[in-house]
Amino acid sequence: MAPDLFRTAPDRPLIAPSILSADFAALGEECAHIIEKGGADLLHVDVMDGHFVPNLTMGPALVRSLRGRLPRVFLDVHVMVTDPIQYVDPFADAGANHITFHIEPAMDRRAGTGMSPVSHGYDVREVAAAIRARGMTAGLAINPPTPVESILPVAGEFDLILVMSVNPGFSGQAFIPESLKKPEWVRAAVGDRVRVQMDGGIGPANAQAVRTAGCDVLVAASAVFGVPRAERAGVISRLRGG
Ligand code: DX5
Ligand code: ZN
Repeated sequence: MAPDLFRTAPDRPLIAPSILSADFAALGEECAHIIEKGGADLLHVDVMDGHFVPNLTMGPALVRSLRGRLPRVFLDVHVMVTDPIQYVDPFADAGANHITFHIEPAMDRRAGTGMSPVSHGYDVREVAAAIRARGMTAGLAINPPTPVESILPVAGEFDLILVMSVNPGFSGQAFIPESLKKPEWVRAAVGDRVRVQMDGGIGPANAQAVRTAGCDVLVAASAVFGVPRAERAGVISRLRGG
């Protein structure tokens, strides 16, 4: 395992298959194959609570099973939930290496209060501290309609900023091209100290644009798991840029 995977700038883009499009009936084999034969750098685990996003997916029990099956794999948990802090300990206990949570629920709770996104509702710094206290790295995610200005003041305090390029909830959605502007703003604010991840609608056809925008971690679900296993290593390689 490489618990520090997101702490230093990688010398080549990291490719993070989202297991959301894997065959759940064969999940252990799917994950082992994409890491051991496909050449993926880590696994991206999409957790949805049916409140923040209109879907239900997976939770700590599944992370625990993956950790048992693949003791060394880096598990990047993307929580699309309204109350991330309550899931920090369960995912840490299950063996997660990293948790990314969203800025939007923190902003919703401060609406009308005149308070900043770091001082009301859930304090994003507090959640990041709780994640790090459990030995994991911490990421902050931003949805397509949310202005990039909402994260810039705190971006440098995270290990990773996740710029969503679809509205989260389902894999297989079309990439939103306007999303490509945000990584440039984030990079300008944080330099190379922070990983910039993009997630949603990414495939071989647009991966270069995503990398050129400054992203160094690319998530892909349907582009990877939507092709036969024999073709997945080729997709990973094209996502990375050869
Ligand atoms: C958003 C999730 C993504 C998504 C990616 O709903 O966070 O990880 O499922 O799926 P693709 O790559 O198929 O757009
Ligand atoms: Zn995701």
